[in-house]
Amino acid sequence: MRKIVSSLLFLLAAVGLYLAQIDLASSFGFHRFNPGGFNNPSPSPSPSPTPTPSGQAVDPGVRGGAAGAGGPIAGLIGRQIAFFNQGKQDFASTEDIADGLGPRMNLDSCGGCHMQPAVGGSSPAVNPQVAFAGKDGGTDILPAFIRANGPVREARFVKNADGSADGGVHAIFTVTGRTGANGCSLAQPDFATQLQNNNVIFRIPTPTFGTGLMEMIPDAAIAANQRANATQKQTLGIRGRPNFQVNGRTISGQTNNNGNDGTIARFGWKAQNKSMLLFSGEAYNVEMGISNDIFQTEREENPACQFAPVPNDVQNMEAASPLEATTAIQNFSNFMRLLAPPTPSTTTPGGATSISNGKQLFSSTGCALCHTPSFTTSTSSVAALSNKPVNLYSDLLVHDMGPGLADGVSQGQAGPTEFRSAPLWGLGQRIFLLHDGRTSDLVRAIHEHRSGSATQNNASEASGVIDKYDALGEGQKQDLLNFLRSL
Ligand code: HEC
Ligand code: HEC
Repeated sequence: MRKIVSSLLFLLAAVGLYLAQIDLASSFGFHRFNPGGFNNPSPSPSPSPTPTPSGQAVDPGVRGGAAGAGGPIAGLIGRQIAFFNQGKQDFASTEDIADGLGPRMNLDSCGGCHMQPAVGGSSPAVNPQVAFAGKDGGTDILPAFIRANGPVREARFVKNADGSADGGVHAIFTVTGRTGANGCSLAQPDFATQLQNNNVIFRIPTPTFGTGLMEMIPDAAIAANQRANATQKQTLGIRGRPNFQVNGRTISGQTNNNGNDGTIARFGWKAQNKSMLLFSGEAYNVEMGISNDIFQTEREENPACQFAPVPNDVQNMEAASPLEATTAIQNFSNFMRLLAPPTPSTTTPGGATSISNGKQLFSSTGCALCHTPSFTTSTSSVAALSNKPVNLYSDLLVHDMGPGLADGVSQGQAGPTEFRSAPLWGLGQRIFLLHDGRTSDLVRAIHEHRSGSATQNNASEASGVIDKYDALGEGQKQDLLNFLRSL
């Protein structure tokens, strides 16, 4: 009982801290080459929901009210809704060591990391990784970059000890000491030393709402949009290129280069991943340590630490019904594919006039040159995904974002400074921003787009557009910020 009360108090305290608008995420204030910030967090206030007395535009903050996300896309027929529901349940449930969890992992459920503002979404206000460190007898130490009121994070190392490229995910937790893991003793990666060596970068969860629609955008439409507005893009320094899928090369420097079908990959911060099914297989193994029909090999093969048959999750060939026969990764993928896109608000924050002004400024300022407001899906065998608008606010291309956002990691064709234009649908209810969750403040997220310089030949492609944003009047900026939080 005491345990319940104290963890409840902890939860309340953590939520309280968040509501008190102490923005620890931005307190790190780091650049990749300045991880000293981890050791000296200096909280800075996050934006207040109303404009300041000086009239300066501010981030209206996370939009309250209904989630407007997490449900199935309209128009599902037949058994599709049953597959969606089963997938949702599997996505939200936690796994045990007997299910194959670990031996190394970042958490024990998809839903734990993807849950804001509803299951399938992005990082929640209270980071579940903190409680997970000690769950079921766990003995793991929390690295400095994991905080109760910071974003969920996964860590990648930039280089190997011999100086060659690494880029892979190094799981934070182990099964050591946990119920069901007798005889297994694993050391965590030495994050403190790696941080000291400026060798760690972070990724926060991207939301999965509407991803079935994103899968169905034809490559030809992405390419045509890339060619559109060429003069305007050239003047502003915007290039952008698709991340062609070359499987087996998501971690650079490895030997197995299995050339793939050559179509455009579109999921993840660097558009490094092709589909919901592939992402499910990879996330199950990378985030949770559960090997499966796509990724059959355990990432940690220590024989003393295997407590379930490998691959851990496989098709049930004896199943009597299609629902029973699907694997977990198919379930996750069905759920995300059939998840409705987020519902924007037409009135909140700031009212309908401000939002529609902001939408217009989003285009005239040049944000829409990368954050493409809309595509249309091709014909799909699933009617609900067929010939539908996809209002994602992304061109699905990767752009050179300059030294300020660079993470030094290459994935597929996306280089160390390149990132996918983050889809902005659902942004109104996103708490942590940018690939490493360095801020919760929209205004700061916009300014982080600008770095490098033309003379050094390393300018961010977005620098010109951010100059145009800065030239707007404060009222116009406020309209633009209100529009962004209406999404
Ligand atoms: C420990 C936290 C964590 C867990 C657990 C987790 N994810 Fe993620 N997820 C992430 C992060 C971080 C990213 C961004 C990865 C990147 O781009 O490097 C991500 C991205 C994704 C994306 C890409 C969406 C897009 O458009 O970019 C999908 C799909 C996804 N996860 C599905 C899953 C599924 C399915 C599971 C469960 C098997 C899962 N995730 C478990 C952290 C997590
Ligand atoms: C050159 C292309 C480009 C332009 C122009 C651009 N962006 Fe972005 N935007 C990106 C990329 C790439 C990211 C992801 C960067 C990262 O996380 O490191 C991003 C991320 C964001 C994010 C954070 C989203 C999230 O989920 O964390 C916001 C908000 C945003 N952009 C708003 C804007 C606004 C507003 C403008 C115009 C003033 C703009 N962007 C102009 C490419 C662009």
